[in-house]
Amino acid sequence: MSALPPGPRLPRSLQAVGWTQRPLPWLERCHRRYGDTFTLRIRHYGDWVILADPDDVKKVFTAGRAVGVDVANPLLGPLLGPRSVMLLEEPEHMTRRKLMLPSFHGQAVQADSEMMATVAREEIERWPVGEPFALWPRMQDITLDVVMRAVFGPDSKSPRLQPLRERLRGLTTWMNEPRNLAMLAFLGPGWVVRSRGYRESMGAVEEAVMAEVRRRKADPDGGSLGVVSMLVRAQYEDGSPLSDRDLRDELVTLLSDGPTSSTLAWTFERLLRHPDKVERLREDVLAGDGSYLDAVVKETLRLRPPVPVVVRNLLEPMRLGGHELPAGTTVAPCIHLIHRDERHYPEAHRFLPERFVGKQPGTYTWIPFGGGVRRCLAASYAEMEMKRVLRIVSETIELRAVESGAERARKSAISFAPDQKGLVIAEPRESEPAGPRPLAPV
Ligand code: HEM
Repeated sequence: MSALPPGPRLPRSLQAVGWTQRPLPWLERCHRRYGDTFTLRIRHYGDWVILADPDDVKKVFTAGRAVGVDVANPLLGPLLGPRSVMLLEEPEHMTRRKLMLPSFHGQAVQADSEMMATVAREEIERWPVGEPFALWPRMQDITLDVVMRAVFGPDSKSPRLQPLRERLRGLTTWMNEPRNLAMLAFLGPGWVVRSRGYRESMGAVEEAVMAEVRRRKADPDGGSLGVVSMLVRAQYEDGSPLSDRDLRDELVTLLSDGPTSSTLAWTFERLLRHPDKVERLREDVLAGDGSYLDAVVKETLRLRPPVPVVVRNLLEPMRLGGHELPAGTTVAPCIHLIHRDERHYPEAHRFLPERFVGKQPGTYTWIPFGGGVRRCLAASYAEMEMKRVLRIVSETIELRAVESGAERARKSAISFAPDQKGLVIAEPRESEPAGPRPLAPV
């Protein structure tokens, strides 16, 4: 056994059960027992040195080429493909990142904000009134529409792209099926690639994505918009275009955005169990202020980060948590544990958006989007999207939770979502909601 920091001595297969069945409580238990640096040995995932000290996380995020790619989620390899920005090593990673960043940053965020509001309004009109429904799938519809618009431009509404929308929904449903998640945990990523269900769903998505790529390639100056046209026209420094593999992997990466919809579902799950905060949010939105809206999004991302760890491969030895870790070690900056630490957040287990009103979060104590050169390249885009959706919902509809108790976190294919999928009942704003219900303190 190497000199990795101590951790649970359970067999790998049992650690895999802990990680796949109840990962968050398990991480918390290990943190209490072993401190800020400990090693998990998980079957199909390997050995991970978990880092819960922001100073260590800073060291990893700012280590430049001393760290390389590793993926926390074994599904990501087959799903995204080796030419995805998320899986490319330097220097290719940075070249690709620079190419894509302008589409999800700065002016692009402002330019798309009205589109995000329109998508949310259209979706809310379809919600049932007065009967329970699950919010998470509705949020998946919104985020899918938004990312389709970003990737394909106004064409995303054309009947030509409807089959792709349906196929992406089919793929997401397949990946989030509890049985398939259990098989993945038990048999590893190899099973996914061999599985007929996955191959059929993914094959259908790839076929539709590449058909659109071919269409845009055939007419590169045809006025088509969106990331896909930009990528089709892009060239490497030597003048060569992106290959079909590059295009497939990049487009599937963008189109499989999962964290935004689960964070939105969590935002409502948390808010609706705190009616005073719902009211404060509504007042903030109606006053056109936005500081509480911003704080609600930040606090949800703190308390329910949809991605609880990111991982890196050490390409050089590094001293972390008092341990000399050799090159080749997988280290895992733990978003969940840092966000739940009383040393950084008093009353860390409570949902208190107030903690972020007029206060910016710390660079290494608030890391829902990861950090360093691999920080989520759509972080500000996703924050804007969540704020637009929250704003439109607050203005137009009254939601209440079906159950008073908190929903537990459940592992989905790409992120963590509420286990009841965010069960709510909607009422139009004009009418009174059906009476206050006692809500459990959380
Ligand atoms: C609440 C929403 C989101 C959260 C919490 C989130 C979180 C993350 C995290 C934790 C990483 C890994 C960072 C690391 O390894 O340090 C990441 C990377 C990435 N995300 Fe997001 N993400 C969100 C939304 C999105 C959206 C909407 C898109 C695009 C449509 C997107 C595209 C990407 C890409 C392309 C990367 C790879 C960046 C790189 O390797 O350079 N994300 N995201």
